[in-house]
Formats: sequence, C-alpha cells, structure tokens
Amino acid sequence: MTNLPTPDLRPANPRFSSGPCAKRPGWTPEALIDAALGRSHRAKIGKSKLSQAIDLTREILGVPDDYRIGIVPASDTGAVEMAMWSMLGARGTDMVAWESFGEGWVTDVVKQLKLDDVRKITAPYGELPDLSTIDFDRDVVFTWNGTTSGVRVPNADFIPAGRQGLTICDATSAAFAQDLDFAKLDVTTFSWQKVLGGEGGHGVLILSPRAVERLESYVPAWPLPKIFRMTKGGKLIEGIFKGETINTPSMLCVEDYIDALTWAQSVGGLKGLIARADANADVLHRFVAENAWIANLAKVDATRSNTSVCLVIADPEVAALAPDAQAAFAKALVGRLDAEGVALDIGAYRDAPAGLRIWCGATVETSDLEALTPWLSWAFAQEKAGLKQAA
Ligand SMILES: Cc1ncc(COP(=O)(O)O)c(C=O)c1O
Repeated sequence: MTNLPTPDLRPANPRFSSGPCAKRPGWTPEALIDAALGRSHRAKIGKSKLSQAIDLTREILGVPDDYRIGIVPASDTGAVEMAMWSMLGARGTDMVAWESFGEGWVTDVVKQLKLDDVRKITAPYGELPDLSTIDFDRDVVFTWNGTTSGVRVPNADFIPAGRQGLTICDATSAAFAQDLDFAKLDVTTFSWQKVLGGEGGHGVLILSPRAVERLESYVPAWPLPKIFRMTKGGKLIEGIFKGETINTPSMLCVEDYIDALTWAQSVGGLKGLIARADANADVLHRFVAENAWIANLAKVDATRSNTSVCLVIADPEVAALAPDAQAAFAKALVGRLDAEGVALDIGAYRDAPAGLRIWCGATVETSDLEALTPWLSWAFAQEKAGLKQAA
C-alpha cells in the first residue's frame, strides 16, 4: 500500500466543503444578472423576488399551505435563535444534541436564556441519543442532520402527531437532501449556503400553525431584539412571511437563491436532489466498505448522513497513536489533498473527532466523488509511509 501511484484523474470540482457548499453545477456570476441591485427591497421588484424565493421554497420542499415561510437575518443561527428566544419558556424544554451545533443550542438555552426546566438528552459523536426518552409534551429542540458528526435522524417517526409541546428543528444540512416530515415539525430552519450551494447571511424559518399560535399567545420574560420580533400587538406580522423582511436582505444573495431553486427544479425537485445526495454518499459508503483503514463516524447505517459524511481513520497503527498524533495524521492527510488541489475543506469540524468530513449534498457531482476516492487511498498511503519512516 505504500507505493500507490498518483491517481491520473482529478475531481473537476474539488470543493467538498460542508458550508458554504459547492455552487450548483454550471454556476457562474452570470446567474446573478437579473438581481434587483440598487433598488429598495420594499419596491415591487424587490418584494416580488423575495416572494418568489418563498414560493419556490414551498414548492420544492413540499411545505404545507398553512405553514409560514420567512426569510430572516443571520443565516441558520439567526433562524434557530429567533425561534428559541421567541417561543421557549412557555413549558419545559427537552434539548436533544449529538454534536457541536446541537450542543450550541443547549448552551443558548441553559447559559443565555437560563431556562429552569431543561432536560438534556445527548449522545457522543457518532451516535443518536435514545429518542424514546424525549417528552413531546414539552418543547423539543433538535438538529435533523448533525453536520459535525454525520449522524441524522432516519425519519420523524419518533415524534408523535398529538404532541402538546413544539418541535424546533435545525434542518440546515438536511433541507433539500432529506425528507422533512413537516407535520411533525413546528419550527424548521435552514440557510441557503448548504445543500443548494447558496450564500450565507440569510436564514429561512418555517412555522406550523401551532408555532404561530405560540407566538401569538406567549410573551417571553426577556427582551427581544428587533431582528427577533415576529409579532406586533400580540399578532403575527404576516408581512415577514410574504417577503417583507424585518431588515434589509442582500438582493444578490436572494437572486442566487432563486437561481439555486430553479436549478433544483431542473434536476427533479426534492426527489432529484435527494437522489443526487444519496448517490454521492453511496460512493463514500462503498469506499469505506472496501477499505479497512477508514470508517464512518456514524455507528448505525440508518443514521448515516447523505450530506455531511464524517469519516475516521480506523487503521490499527494510526488508531493506536496518542489522540494528538491521530489528529496530526488526519490533518496531514487532509493537507496533502488540499495541496494537490483535489479536495478542499475536508477536515473534520474543530470540535469533532479527528478525521475527514466530505460534503455529498446535491450540488456535488457524483463523478467528482468517484475521482476523489483513489486520492484518499493515495494520501493515506503517503502518510502511512511517513509514519513508518519516523518510527
Ligand atoms: C447543524 C447546523 N446548525 C447551524 C449551523 C450554523 O449555520 P449558519 O452559519 O448558517 O448560521 C450549521 C453550520 O454548519 C450547522 O451545520
């Protein structure tokens, strides 16, 4: 294995970052030519672009007609925090987390909002917590696809239809790649920079009628900044959900999102997007099955992500190294691929176990992942040879 020749084929696009993710195939700045630049976002043209973005989102994701869809500030984080700050505290809260971003929402609720009735339901990287212990008569916050561990919920069967509490779901690395069961989700959030390869800065907040009811019947004890406020005089500000954004959006990013949604339609809508992500992840799953030196961080097949695929180095000699040396090995492997220009930004997230994280969302071409896998073997062989020399 130490003398693997340099592979002939290179991925045409080496961008495998987990966010911002690769632009859609064929994207050029020309796609933005019709952007309503230098115009008010409250003018007819600006409003129509914003409402087109909302309508296409509804159509492609299959969001029910009686759910509100809003474009909000501060990317996915803005959308999740806006929901938590506006709705939590009315009843007890179950915080469900199994990787860094879910943990971040726990910190928000425990240390910032300082809610007193909070239960933490957590699992280590690579695993899902026992979802049967969640009490859905309380409010529940969870992440559909844990971007930093590559572990997702397989479906929404664990959520009962007749719940009393609200479900707040961070779906940023799942939306447009996995089937979201909106009947089970009261708040769903995502950002444009993930599966559709859009831009950061804006978040999308989807509210069920029950979430709206909470907003209209509950006033939190803490102050709400203007960019979190969704009600006025106890009534939902409906305009937010028709494209009258709270503050000024980037019309360049809006145009880019519309371009991404139009591309999504051209590949068969949600079904087509899911199929692309599945085919991409399958390339890596097959590679892992054929190579004992590498393993999926997600322990259970049904929980394996088809977007943020997280891999660890399972080679016994590497696994026997001290944690720092294991991390250095993975970093060197990732650095080698970056230096070759065949894979950019594929290191594990900073707080996650050392290894690789390779994005497989719909904007990535399957042929690029197929071209990448021989390079993974090559880089591993190079690093392993270096390890032997050093010994
Ligand atoms: C699950 C999850 N939640 C939240 C975020 C933060 O998203 P943003 O930077 O768009 O606010 C990310 C970003 O990777 C994420 O993966």
